[in-house]
Amino acid sequence: MRKEFTILGHDSTLTSADLQENLRDHAFAIMNRGDFDLTEADIDVLSTLYDRDLEPDRWLPAGAHYRQRAYQCFNLAVAELRWTAIADPAPYRQPMTVNRLAGGIDRRFALVPVDHPATAIAARVAVSVARLLLDAGVLDAERHPRCSVDAHYIRITAPGKPCPEGKHHDGLLAGSAHLLRRENITGDESTLYNTLGVPLRTCQLREPMDSFVFHDSRVQHFTGDIERANPAAPGFRDALLIGFRTE
Ligand SMILES: [Fe+2]
Repeated sequence: MRKEFTILGHDSTLTSADLQENLRDHAFAIMNRGDFDLTEADIDVLSTLYDRDLEPDRWLPAGAHYRQRAYQCFNLAVAELRWTAIADPAPYRQPMTVNRLAGGIDRRFALVPVDHPATAIAARVAVSVARLLLDAGVLDAERHPRCSVDAHYIRITAPGKPCPEGKHHDGLLAGSAHLLRRENITGDESTLYNTLGVPLRTCQLREPMDSFVFHDSRVQHFTGDIERANPAAPGFRDALLIGFRTE
């Protein structure tokens, strides 16, 4: 079963020349809330999903319980930016070469239903990223008429590791990370590196929809381990990770 919807009305998210230039010249760009066509209510819908719909990630190394997640997958017709949410996507699989901890295995996660209110909002976030990728020439409708687009809704509970695999490529055309919430944590600096591992830029996503976008083959990325700022209170970090695959 599939449910199809087209996202329209995105004049307000035309990407700035600076973002395009950063992505084209440096292979990454930093975005914030103003770059996305989202209301406060939209962000609340996304955030609420993290409280209600995530399940423990059973693919972490034995004994690790710091990650909860949910997943959904879209087909994207690039020229029209037409998104089709897939009700029953194939298992998520990464090559061993890009994920030495969980590569080479078919991983299934809790699925976000296509009729969940967050689905259309996540697609709109992905539209803004796709528009930037198109404008910067990373995504090209002739070279890549169709893409698979993964949305990973991930909560890391402190103490925990947003990137247990270390600095890495995702094995995708491009990806993006979008902060939804961070509560009582420290340590979550994100760094982009060139392919040799030389740091290019470190930033901390602090406010809802603070984001970075990357051209995956040209940069590696990493986000540091998180700890509780106040050890007596719980701490967590909610992020939406989006990946564009061309197969
Ligand atoms: Fe990654």
